[in-house]
Amino acid sequence: MRGYEPGADGRDRSSGGRLRDGGPGEDARGGVPGRGGRRPAQGTSRRPRPPHTDRSGTTPVELTFLPGLGSVLHGEVVAALQPRRAPCPVPGRDDALLVHLDGPLAQVRRLRTAVAAFVVVHLDVPRPRSIASGEHLGRVAAAVHASLRVERSVSFRFEAAGSGSPTFLRLAGLLAEATGLEHRPDDGELVVRVRRGRPRDDGPPEGRHRRTTPYGPRPDRLTTPPTDPGWDVLVRVGPRPLSARPWRVADYPGAANATIAAAMTRLVGVQAGDRVLNLMCGSGTLLVERLLAGPAAAAVGVDLAPEALAAARANLAAARLGANRPPVVWVQGDALAPPWAPSADGGPVAGPFDVVLADPPWGTLHGSHADGERVHAGLLRAAHDVTAPGGRLVVLTHEIRVMERCLRAAAGLWSVRADPVRVFAKGHHPRIYVLDRR
Ligand SMILES: C[S@@+](CC[C@H](N)C(=O)[O-])C[C@H]1O[C@@H](n2cnc3c(N)ncnc32)[C@H](O)[C@@H]1O
Repeated sequence: MRGYEPGADGRDRSSGGRLRDGGPGEDARGGVPGRGGRRPAQGTSRRPRPPHTDRSGTTPVELTFLPGLGSVLHGEVVAALQPRRAPCPVPGRDDALLVHLDGPLAQVRRLRTAVAAFVVVHLDVPRPRSIASGEHLGRVAAAVHASLRVERSVSFRFEAAGSGSPTFLRLAGLLAEATGLEHRPDDGELVVRVRRGRPRDDGPPEGRHRRTTPYGPRPDRLTTPPTDPGWDVLVRVGPRPLSARPWRVADYPGAANATIAAAMTRLVGVQAGDRVLNLMCGSGTLLVERLLAGPAAAAVGVDLAPEALAAARANLAAARLGANRPPVVWVQGDALAPPWAPSADGGPVAGPFDVVLADPPWGTLHGSHADGERVHAGLLRAAHDVTAPGGRLVVLTHEIRVMERCLRAAAGLWSVRADPVRVFAKGHHPRIYVLDRR
């Protein structure tokens, strides 16, 4: 196999033992080419690029998301990672974006609306069996090592059609040998996906011969798609998806997906002075994600159920907000009947608030469909009563018809900022409504 073997200390031995954490896009002095960074003087040797990066020295990373949240994730990637090229959709998929990362791979852990991140290794091979050859396996192992440097895993598993076949078992043995990870087909931590390649928009794939004329590349070679799309190997960054939050220490039936909660926070906006109210807070998913996204002046969570509030308290503590944590008050009470008396934390909570987050019962695990109209209408009224002028309300609901009816009735209280965002999550299709107080 080709030599790209990090030592136990994570150093890339093929590049003179320098730590690669500075990122594949950095030159030997730590500058980033194309961003004002200093390039090595002509004639000096450049570090060989790690085999998991592409020709331009960036790391191709596929980010998965819940269908419907693509544009929110796109915005987050552009703001948080500032890639040189805008992220682009993955052909044929409604749940993935491709981004070319300049900096350290660990940056992807900042993303809160992505479900998972995978380093993409495109291989110009006709069938998975060929991945076992030295050069290709070396690139896959390098991607695994890149993932391990972000977060440790001890085992891996393949997600691929035919992953139990002799071809994949052989490949698993070789990859285990090259990476030191145990192959656990059913519950391996690090997911390695193998799938047919996709048409690419970034020039000829790695290693493919690019014919040139004396005047430059032959135009037909630039536009003609390859006859064989090859295979993609995708190595997940981290032993768990990004959506599995370390702060979730207390489970609660009907808890919102954290990437949806993060998307709600982005859509309603984060301002440092926000006084935030989470109505029907359950285990606190919306409030925790809001507080992790940025500072706030104060935060209140309201729920009828004491066990929900106990879970919310535990989750908030596990989020380790430290100095960024504003005073948080938990209230056991009816969200539809402000003002509220907090359990033991101080005087009545009357607001005003700048941002209200809400995930009312969907009528399955909590509440009933029959009660939907009362709950949604009451929520719009209560949120209006306790918000300041300019206040914003973001609601995740499954009861679309009910919500639309209630919004028409509450047109004097709230205006709908844009088309609601429809999300696809585990067979449910809830929508996110962002409303501005009138
Ligand atoms: C869909 S769950 C919220 C889940 C929450 N977003 C989470 O991530 O855990 C709805 C919550 O509304 C609460 N609830 C229902 N009616 C309420 C009311 N009138 N006042 C306060 N809480 C209420 C339920 O106890 C439940 O915790």
